[in-house]
Amino acid sequence: MTTQTSQSEPKRLFIKTYGCQMNVYDSERMRDVLRPLGYQPVDTADNADLVVLNTCHIREKATEKVYSELGQIKKMKEAAGGKMTIAVAGCVAQAEGAEIMRRQPAVDLVLGPQAYHKLPEMVARASRAVGERLETEFETLEKFDALPKAREADGPSAFLSVQEGCDKFCTFCVVPYTRGAELSRPVDDITIEARSLAAQGVRDISLLGQNVNAWHGAGPKLEGDGEWGLGQLARHLAKIGGIDRIRYTTSHPRDMDDDLIAAHGEVPELMPFLHLPVQSGSDRILKAMNRGHTAERYLDIMRKMREARPDMALASDFIVGFPGESDQDFEDTMDLVREVGYAIAYSFKYSPRPGTPAADMFGHVPEEVKDERLQRLQALLKQQQTEFNASKVGQTIPVLVTGKGRNPGQMHGRSPWMQAVHFDGPDHLAGQIVDVKIVGATLNSLAGEYAAAVEAA
Ligand code: 5AD
Ligand code: SF4
Repeated sequence: MTTQTSQSEPKRLFIKTYGCQMNVYDSERMRDVLRPLGYQPVDTADNADLVVLNTCHIREKATEKVYSELGQIKKMKEAAGGKMTIAVAGCVAQAEGAEIMRRQPAVDLVLGPQAYHKLPEMVARASRAVGERLETEFETLEKFDALPKAREADGPSAFLSVQEGCDKFCTFCVVPYTRGAELSRPVDDITIEARSLAAQGVRDISLLGQNVNAWHGAGPKLEGDGEWGLGQLARHLAKIGGIDRIRYTTSHPRDMDDDLIAAHGEVPELMPFLHLPVQSGSDRILKAMNRGHTAERYLDIMRKMREARPDMALASDFIVGFPGESDQDFEDTMDLVREVGYAIAYSFKYSPRPGTPAADMFGHVPEEVKDERLQRLQALLKQQQTEFNASKVGQTIPVLVTGKGRNPGQMHGRSPWMQAVHFDGPDHLAGQIVDVKIVGATLNSLAGEYAAAVEAA
């Protein structure tokens, strides 16, 4: 364990993040709460004073990765003569609790997603080898209240957590058990955090939540009556000077309301990108998954989105091989994909999670059938992604420049549709939104020419 060092001596902090963007956000906040204690982020675990694994429990593979990583870190801790504090945070911590310390005794601390504000206190306790080393109670609002409101921004894009938790209980999913009930952050807190980010040069904010479009809150009186939904929040945040791009992720079809769809047509800052997971195109499977909507309802939302904003890029998640999924059910998923036409999508083989209802259902699909379905689905999705990217070739588009590219003289950035873009241009463009003419496209990125340079030539 770490021996107590003086406040002025910098301590090395390594955080490894697994899984979703909520975890990416939470890792940033952990860095924020530890900074006053003298912890400086480093890029590797070797020689770190504090190693935090911010874990994901969504599929079995993700959980097993954590244990194998812990095995590696234990060796580093031994090599450092035990002078390293190892903390496991995130959803594996929440789900497995003290079991983690039993399976890997080198672990000093286990803390769930609602306990990050207690991290400094826990680290201090661990260094003195006293007190609780497990913190997995649900106290979401307390967490939001306790985290410092002013944040250190890193580049022109930032995440902002507005909602946590999930009450949907899809039968395959562990999130409602690890992240707790749905809870929305108050408008004022979100506004303060967004303003602080804007003041530091952030131009692109991604609002995060497990069910981000379930966000609701009481808004300031003059701007609307009673409860706001996410559409109102987007309109409000768009007025903050410097905030040019607003995104939100991840949404649920059940919480998609007409006002949010309308906001896409009215608010230029609201980016034309919607990640709306459908999981399956078969009504029978959607029912068994407890998704609470049909394929037709989902398609209807996608159509309305395209009416409001014709250039909308659509994204989704899919699970193949859910228990009981027949060939026909899978074909229904393929049909839905053909009908929507996705810009990008993530697809997974069903992975039984202990304690979830689907794990005990009949009709588990053989692994080789899951493999074959996943391959077919991914081939179709890749084809759509390539076509979507190719559709931008020849257009001049606004790109938010996020930093230097891989090659000398190259810069990279994001298109409004979330595509990675690289082009040759000067370093000082970082943080700006510039016009780039797209001249090439691959599955994963767009190649462009900096329009100002083209005009000058
Ligand atoms: N098996 C496979 N995929 C899953 N997901 C969630 N739980 C499981 C599971 N048990 C996928 C869903 C979800 C994404 C984050 O992970 O598609 O949208
Ligand atoms: Fe999991 Fe369903 Fe909640 Fe998404 S909506 S987090 S898939 S239970």
